[in-house]
Amino acid sequence: MSNNQHRTVLITGAAGGIGSAVARTIVDQGANVILHDLSESELAPLAAELGENATVVGADLSNVKATAKLWADAFAVHGRIDVLVNNAGIYPPAPLNAKLDDWVETWELSQAVNLRAPAILCRAAVEAYAQQASGGIIINLASRAAFRGEDPDYWHYAAAKAGVVAMTRTIARQYGRQGTTAFAISPGYVDTPFNRVFAETVGVQVAADQTGLGEVAQPQDVANVIAFLASGQAKHATGTTIDINGASYVR
Ligand SMILES: NC(=O)c1ccc[n+]([C@@H]2O[C@H](COP(=O)([O-])OP(=O)(O)OC[C@H]3O[C@@H](n4cnc5c(N)ncnc54)[C@H](O)[C@@H]3O)[C@@H](O)[C@H]2O)c1
Repeated sequence: MSNNQHRTVLITGAAGGIGSAVARTIVDQGANVILHDLSESELAPLAAELGENATVVGADLSNVKATAKLWADAFAVHGRIDVLVNNAGIYPPAPLNAKLDDWVETWELSQAVNLRAPAILCRAAVEAYAQQASGGIIINLASRAAFRGEDPDYWHYAAAKAGVVAMTRTIARQYGRQGTTAFAISPGYVDTPFNRVFAETVGVQVAADQTGLGEVAQPQDVANVIAFLASGQAKHATGTTIDINGASYVR
């Protein structure tokens, strides 16, 4: 089992499927967590469950200033952050037959939440980690879509997640000597509210049939990998992307 004793971990989108599983897992391993989501009220049940090891911060990641303030607020809680998990994400459809303005609006929102906000938080983390004797770790949620491509209405999502991978590699290459290691996680289909529309219209079994395991991943399958990376035991794997897709897309 990984050891995250006394580590301070900021998790964005922590009210969601993967984020809440990460929070539970690393608190169980001894970490303190700063739980972020759109509003503090959404996080209240999880915070109550996790007790004194959890603090909540609300921020809309589509907003640049709110995203910068999130880092400052989270850092102030314990005067340090050891691990940033850029987990929040959105998956709105942008059909080709939508009006151009609407299509572009969805692109801009997706790039803002899925790529720009993680970038702003990574920028703050790199600067802060350079001042911490023990440095720090960045874990960015990318997607299988970054490598395989995505369904027709989701070019923007694939493009944003490919950007996350490229950004993560750049950070790993350029800031290791200043104390930052950086990793990307690339899930396939994970059984969370994120896929509610797919589950209701196409069905989870279709995604399960595309895997080599005959089943889709659960949030815990992703949380286990993130907890391991957060523990600092994979330092020399910096820059890598770990696929968690049940061999539905082997690259
Ligand atoms: N579920 C999957 O199949 C899957 C596959 C590949 C990658 N991912 C990635 O994993 C991450 C987590 O996904 P999940 O399945 O747990 O999704 P989820 O929908 O369960 O959780 C996402 C969380 O992000 C938060 N969020 C969305 N927009 C926000 C905003 N503007 N400001 C602040 N918070 C915001 C939501 O409130 C939600 O709690 C995402 O980055 C997603 O792209 C998920």
